[in-house]
Amino acid sequence: MKYKKLGQIYTPKWIIQEILDEVDFRGEKILNQKIIDPACGDGAFLIEIVDIVIGEAKNRKLGLEDIRNILENNIYGIEIDRDEYRKCKTNLNNIVRTKLGIDKIDWKIFNDDTLTKYREFLNFFDYVVGNPPYIRIHNIDREIRDLIKNEFEFSKGVLDIYLSFFELGLQILNRQGKLGYITPNSFLRNSSAKRFRRFLKDRKIVRTLIDFKSNKIFRNISTYTAITILDLNHRKNSFEYKEFIDGKIKKVDEIQFQDLEDSSWSFSSPENRDFLINLYQNRNYKISDFFNVQYGFATLRDKIFIGNITDSKDKLVLFNNYWIEKSILKKIVKGSTYKGDRADIKYILFPYIRPDNRFTPIQEEELASKFPFAYNYLLQHKEELLKRDRDKNSNWYEFGRSQGIQACNNEKIILGTLMKEEINFYFLEKDIYLYSGICITQRTTNIGFDTLSDILKSDEFKRYIAIQGKDFSGGYKSITTNLIKNFPIASIYLKNSRFQPMLDFL
Ligand SMILES: C[S@@+](CC[C@H](N)C(=O)[O-])C[C@H]1O[C@@H](n2cnc3c(N)ncnc32)[C@H](O)[C@@H]1O
Repeated sequence: MKYKKLGQIYTPKWIIQEILDEVDFRGEKILNQKIIDPACGDGAFLIEIVDIVIGEAKNRKLGLEDIRNILENNIYGIEIDRDEYRKCKTNLNNIVRTKLGIDKIDWKIFNDDTLTKYREFLNFFDYVVGNPPYIRIHNIDREIRDLIKNEFEFSKGVLDIYLSFFELGLQILNRQGKLGYITPNSFLRNSSAKRFRRFLKDRKIVRTLIDFKSNKIFRNISTYTAITILDLNHRKNSFEYKEFIDGKIKKVDEIQFQDLEDSSWSFSSPENRDFLINLYQNRNYKISDFFNVQYGFATLRDKIFIGNITDSKDKLVLFNNYWIEKSILKKIVKGSTYKGDRADIKYILFPYIRPDNRFTPIQEEELASKFPFAYNYLLQHKEELLKRDRDKNSNWYEFGRSQGIQACNNEKIILGTLMKEEINFYFLEKDIYLYSGICITQRTTNIGFDTLSDILKSDEFKRYIAIQGKDFSGGYKSITTNLIKNFPIASIYLKNSRFQPMLDFL
């Protein structure tokens, strides 16, 4: 399978049946309608389609020649890869041989590039269905990339080739046509798919959207997917939003087109929406009014910068099998895995000083003269350190991303960026630093860490993250610094704290 270059992934049968049901590909009418899979692979969709058409034709007692006529004139497929194209024809021939005893059918399956071939079929089909290729733009050849940029509107500032397949799919549909694809769900939220979302909203052509969220549909492939059903004759102001819950596709909400935001489409149940509305009501303060919330820094070579002390001698310590000056080391924990166990505290070679309350990198000459052992250790790894894609204007011996270092010399609450049932967070003293994970420090003394801790433990906060956080496999939700910063603080927390006098005053 040519996964990277051609986006070859095979669709499970139940997904194909779901899509065909959703576009209403059934009943006598389909015997006079045209359908295409514009990225047909070895024919997974077409096999189901042929099966349904034969069943329908037999129900109507059509003769063999009529059935052959329908199969040859109504069912289309395009596939760029010659091997897949051949397999597709063989697979289709096998079904008609078994089901009808016919040997040779002149299939309308083309071994061609859909990105150009589609032009021959404008306004032609009643149904366009399939699992178009998902290929990140940087994996696409330059020539095709240029074609996509010039030819397709939705793909300006392109995200992925599947958006072009949406666009060409809509162009080959006739005015009553319906389209059903399974694709990555990234178009729901990614800013590069904004034009596409705006188009769908303005034209009101979405009939159903099934977001699989963190449920993986394709074996061995981590793409998060959605089924999108578009109907050029939808004529409604709303569409059905469904999710995959407890192994079944269930309707979660009816979404009004007018309620869709341009920036991102995230849907949740009416109960969750009400919860969020209530949460924001009458709350004038948010966490970021009282706390700095930021990601820990990233060295981009943890193996070199972070390690354990295994021996010591005067002012030197044995760090990752090298003797270096102890005073250049700081205690550190990894926010994404720390569970409060002090044994997990390690050391980091920290080439920064803090002359006036701001960390700045130690100059190279100073590093060499004041910390000759540590400098020598870094020199031994210079080649490796230079390979990092580090912050602009940073020295080769600095951390790759040092943005998070300013806040680290304070008392802090730290937490990882994923949550399941519980949000785990830990209090750390000033001299223990953090990498990878989120670090919260106080901006004012109006609200203390005890109150923040109550907020982070509250059911409200957990539900807020569960609704707003991005889904990850295994039922995890991502916690971002922005989500924490924007969490509105209820007045009970303000009353509990030293913030009270100011509220009274107001
Ligand atoms: C995600 S696979 C789907 C295969 C099959 N429809 C299925 O659902 O199992 C996408 C298919 O599109 C084909 N493909 C990729 N780029 C194409 C293009 N520009 N024109 C036609 N087919 C293309 C790939 O070779 C691959 O077989």
